Amino acid sequence: MAESFVITVEPLGRQVVCRDDQPILDACLRAGVWLPHSCTHGTCATCKVDRVDGDVDHGEASSFALMDFEREEKMLTCCARPRSDVTLEADIDIDEDIEMFPVEDYVATLVSKDAIAKDTVRLVLELDRDMSFNAGQYLKFTVPAGDSGDAVDRTWSIASPPTQPRTLEFHVRLVPGGRGTDGWVFKDLGVGDQFPVSGPYGRFVLHTGQDNHTIMVAGGTGLAPIKAMLRHGLENEMYEGEMTLYQGGRSREWLYDVDYFRSLAEEYDQFTYRPCLSEETAEEVAAAGDDPAAYGFGMVTDVIAADHASLSGCKGYLCGPPLMVEAALKTLMSKRLFPRDIYREEFFNEGDKAAGVNSPLIKR
Ligand SMILES: Cc1cc2nc3c(=O)[nH]c(=O)nc-3n(C[C@H](O)[C@H](O)[C@H](O)COP(=O)(O)OP(=O)(O)OC[C@H]3O[C@@H](n4cnc5c(N)ncnc54)[C@H](O)[C@@H]3O)c2cc1C
Ligand code: FES
Repeated sequence: MAESFVITVEPLGRQVVCRDDQPILDACLRAGVWLPHSCTHGTCATCKVDRVDGDVDHGEASSFALMDFEREEKMLTCCARPRSDVTLEADIDIDEDIEMFPVEDYVATLVSKDAIAKDTVRLVLELDRDMSFNAGQYLKFTVPAGDSGDAVDRTWSIASPPTQPRTLEFHVRLVPGGRGTDGWVFKDLGVGDQFPVSGPYGRFVLHTGQDNHTIMVAGGTGLAPIKAMLRHGLENEMYEGEMTLYQGGRSREWLYDVDYFRSLAEEYDQFTYRPCLSEETAEEVAAAGDDPAAYGFGMVTDVIAADHASLSGCKGYLCGPPLMVEAALKTLMSKRLFPRDIYREEFFNEGDKAAGVNSPLIKR
């Protein structure tokens, strides 16, 4: 039977009981003690905290995110499991205006699975009960054990707003050789299937108390949390400022929900939509009978740079593959945005973890 230990979280002074087979982050989030985190699989280092006292097993922490020389004094709470009572000290810079909800377990039923772009599907799930979350957060799915191995957890972002607390939308991109996508979502997962999920996780959320112009940059399925934020901000009237979406894709076959965002842009004066094509030219778009004026051409970062002399006073929301997020971060900073004004979520996967890809602002 698993042994349990007491985790003391400073500077909050809160105490949480954690099993020896449970990540400390998991115990804290379930107890309603919010700690910073993003990938939840030992890659991004967002959850790195000081270990003031006690022993832990560092588990699957990547040696890039938690270096050998740090392991005596620090830990990644998403991977560390207690081996004694532990006291940790975290830098908890949570926005007072945002209510964070405890993580709970749910049973999900797949309602629909539709191809929406090249190698991309939209999943709609029905939970067994309502879930409270913030626009931009994500769920952990348990990918069932099968031919390709034991059960594993994978994280996908909720693309629908919190005002739909039980029927949730997701966008999932195929990763060749990936256990969760190639081995499950794009293979065996069918309508009517039931499986466990937990959530909500993450700190990439719409900051509704602000009215700055938001520049939102989405690469691939990085659109999912941003769509949730846009719908919450516009349709639920939770954001007063301007909102501009830059959606990047190689060609039109990689973009999705284009008509939906165009209709949003027609309906809401505060919203501007800029779909960008990095590998399809204006001539090719015209030859296919589409209007080149409706697109930006080049890398999404080039289009942003050409559109704005300065982004001073704006807020950035960036989401997608780590390299895209890093490039967009540099572009926004070159346009006079400070890192503290740029919220971001990198879609790290197991390959990134093995290769040591990590955040450009990784916490040391
Ligand atoms: C916070 C967050 C939110 C996310 N939201 C979304 C979302 O909304 N939509 C979405 O599509 N994705 C999202 N992702 C990415 C998602 O979690 C998965 O990483 C992605 O779907 C791939 O999962 P997979 O199991 O198919 O691939 P994995 O099994 O993770 O494999 C990925 C690649 O790495 C290779 N690989 C696996 N293990 C190793 C190893 N040990 N060494 C070397 N290479 C290896 C695989 O062959 C494959 O090519 C999100 C990620 C994060 C962190
Ligand atoms: S949340 Fe722990 S390393 Fe990313």
